[in-house]
Amino acid sequence: MDEQYHEPVKELSQEARDRARAFKSLIEEIEAVDWYDQRVATEMDTELRDILIHNRNEEIEHAVMILEWIRRKMPEAFDPQLEKYLFTQAKITELEHEDEGGKSAPKGLKIGKIK
Ligand SMILES: [Fe+2]
Repeated sequence: MDEQYHEPVKELSQEARDRARAFKSLIEEIEAVDWYDQRVATEMDTELRDILIHNRNEEIEHAVMILEWIRRKMPEAFDPQLEKYLFTQAKITELEHEDEGGKSAPKGLKIGKIK
């Protein structure tokens, strides 16, 4: 059980162990998204492909639920990054220095929900 930790488990607080479980779960959910996505890309049977698409999208929901739990535990670190990059339209790599007064960086135009 301790192999999921990179530091001695006895030195980790309960909160740090909870976060470790959440990070590991996020990794596993994204891995599942990737597995289903590859199966979707290669499946020829349309009915099975539709099921795999459904399952992939459920894994995305699971990943986002975990991500939101993590964000709520670490808002000071996650919120600025999520607010900078999510639901924008500018070139992603140009958003990095936007808050550093970069004169050439375009404003990250926030967009509404992507349908
Ligand atoms: Fe899942």
